[in-house]
Amino acid sequence: MAAALGIPVAFLGCEGATTVVCESPEEGPSGFVTCANGLVTRPAAVTCESELPRDQVCQGDPEFDQCQTDADCTEFPNGACGVASGDPFGDPFPGCSCSYGCVTDDDCGDGAICACASPVGQCISAECGTDAECDDGQLCARWDSLDECGGGGFACTTGDDECLSHSDCGDGQSCEYQAGKRSCVQIEPCAIGRPFLIDDEPRLAEAVLRDDWSLRTKHDAAALDADTRSALAERWLEVARMEHASIAAFARFTLQLLALGAPGELVASSAKAGADEARHARLAFGMVKAFGGVAVGPGPLGLDGALGDTVDHEQLLRVVYREGCVGETIAALEAREGQSRSGLAVFASIAADEADHATLAWASTKWLAEQIGPRAAYILAEELERAAARSVPLVRGEPELGAFGFLTSFEREALRSDAVESLVRPATLALMARLTTQFEEQAPLSVH
Ligand SMILES: [Fe+2]
Ligand SMILES: [Fe+2]
Repeated sequence: MAAALGIPVAFLGCEGATTVVCESPEEGPSGFVTCANGLVTRPAAVTCESELPRDQVCQGDPEFDQCQTDADCTEFPNGACGVASGDPFGDPFPGCSCSYGCVTDDDCGDGAICACASPVGQCISAECGTDAECDDGQLCARWDSLDECGGGGFACTTGDDECLSHSDCGDGQSCEYQAGKRSCVQIEPCAIGRPFLIDDEPRLAEAVLRDDWSLRTKHDAAALDADTRSALAERWLEVARMEHASIAAFARFTLQLLALGAPGELVASSAKAGADEARHARLAFGMVKAFGGVAVGPGPLGLDGALGDTVDHEQLLRVVYREGCVGETIAALEAREGQSRSGLAVFASIAADEADHATLAWASTKWLAEQIGPRAAYILAEELERAAARSVPLVRGEPELGAFGFLTSFEREALRSDAVESLVRPATLALMARLTTQFEEQAPLSVH
């Protein structure tokens, strides 16, 4: 199969295991090498160059500045002082604040390597540091999910890999590393609602004929042509199934918060968010009925594997950041845009709730980071860069449903990248700065 995919292979012994060869390697920063087939590998670790500390003085807001120059950022190594202005949901975080990078892999701790960047390297997730850590004939190579809520990083190739790059997979699929090998997985949209991820795969219930999930809407679809009605019913069904899965995502999140002894306010907000998602799902199934003329609802939702044996602060922080801080911030903006284009009240109601859910995600992220300690700043920096590198799969020839509140994949991609840069990035940097100050104040206590 690998040969058919254009991957150079040679057979080793009688096991049938394949070896991965990097043809025409081109060297890049961080010891990364790009092969002719697009694979990015890391034969050797390097020490990154740092431009820190820079002479420049950060131009922020004197009332809120936490630093003026890089020299003020001393909580961890490789501190940079930059502007972080604005927070998506009203909590003011303006002014200059510190963020922290890396020069070597050791600066990143376990499970991460240092990717060189300007003004200083950034830690990224990695299961291997160099090719030498992989089995014979395998390489330490980069993978990146195309799913907005998915992940990425470095991991060894294996003889069991089904793909090495997205081009090895079919349309609408992404080559992802999970459960110890690379496989082609279906890309699921990550919009209007929190996905219910189990082993990194979104879990959705099938739609079945039933009439007890459709809230009545005043929407009159009679004036629309049949094609538009069916395209709208299809889009609303996607939304409805996603919203339905979000109920389970919050139910699980509530249990995980309880397991970690979280504050009552977070637990109460998570339980309320689950109820919001149930209403969104019923509203959306109502829209399916209004446009499609047939009442459908969710079938049984499989829960196998939904709850692991243990709940881990770091893992939960990453999931909440991806699903909530990034996913629901974008979902809120998409729903708001849908409302302004279509004037439909259903979008306004969903937008307001999704904004609350994003706020809850930021509050949960802050609490989890406080429990983890200084390492949380690295995790957040890594997750931020991962979010910035994501993109929405672009589809050509989509039905034009803008007047009904739905964005095309091209519009969603523009909205997503703008939201990450203008809202998620400054809010994350500001949170990191706030945590740094907090850890600084707490530090003397831990001496005793
Ligand atoms: Fe939500
Ligand atoms: Fe929702």
